[in-house]
Amino acid sequence: MKTEIDRLRRERRAVILAHNYCRAEVQDVADFTGDSLELARRATEVDADVIVFCGVYFMAETAAILNPGKTVLIPDPTAGCPMADMVTAEQLRELKARHPGAAAVCYVNSTAEVKAECDICVTSGNAERVMATFPADREIIFVPDQHLGSHIMGLLGRKYILWPGYCPTHAALSAKSIADARAAHPGAPVLVHPECARDVREAADERLSTGGMCRYARESAAKEILVGTEVGILHRLRSENPGKTFHPVNERLVCPNMKKTTLENLAESLREMKHRVVVPADIAARARRAVEAMLAIA
Ligand code: 13P
Ligand code: SF4
Repeated sequence: MKTEIDRLRRERRAVILAHNYCRAEVQDVADFTGDSLELARRATEVDADVIVFCGVYFMAETAAILNPGKTVLIPDPTAGCPMADMVTAEQLRELKARHPGAAAVCYVNSTAEVKAECDICVTSGNAERVMATFPADREIIFVPDQHLGSHIMGLLGRKYILWPGYCPTHAALSAKSIADARAAHPGAPVLVHPECARDVREAADERLSTGGMCRYARESAAKEILVGTEVGILHRLRSENPGKTFHPVNERLVCPNMKKTTLENLAESLREMKHRVVVPADIAARARRAVEAMLAIA
């Protein structure tokens, strides 16, 4: 499979981008593995005709929005993000109508239609920096993740109008599981994703994007680290830090959609040039403004 993927990648002048939660074997064949922000940035820099996006649909859509001239493929088009589907453009328009003058901000985990309704977009890796640019008296709508929204509210000491969306995978992490993991591995720092609920975030030592976790693991003196996010990231943490030990806080924290990309459907995607991610031009143009505004700040 790997030999065929390599051959097809050269023939098609393709680059393979993979999210940190992908299967280990998919991460290993990718040209670049990263978090949502790093992948969006990388998508603007690649010298290729084709981008094969291994991750979930909104990520591939973001790459397509940023690259109107390139072909963007997703190996399994059913790989969605349930959180991204928790708010529709129509619902956001209604909320905006109830708060005229408010800025609309979306987490990158949102559809292209929702991004098109927003002033700016954020990822977990840059949300604090981006949100800090709004004047203190500006009313702000934040969709769809209530937990990332409340995390940033806490960091910046502000109040946003939050949408009640959440990640079903991170919702499975509890403060009790952190206490149990700490008891089993005393002294090991606990990292969680800001998509976790408030009591879980408060029980942890660090709240970081997946890219932030990779950086922390590299730079920290800790030899043992507890990881409270989707378990796919353990592959990268372990291979980049051979002298350190990583334990999942909950080994059942799996995002089923992130696991839908396999070497088989990745090869098939390159072989048959499917499934193309196409965003209607008018929506893509409006969504691009929100994503580019974010990339310009962070
Ligand atoms: P990151 O941007 O931190 O990789 O997060 C993406 C995501 O979907 C987390 O569930
Ligand atoms: Fe969406 Fe959660 Fe999966 Fe991330 S882990 S892609 S937020 S469902």
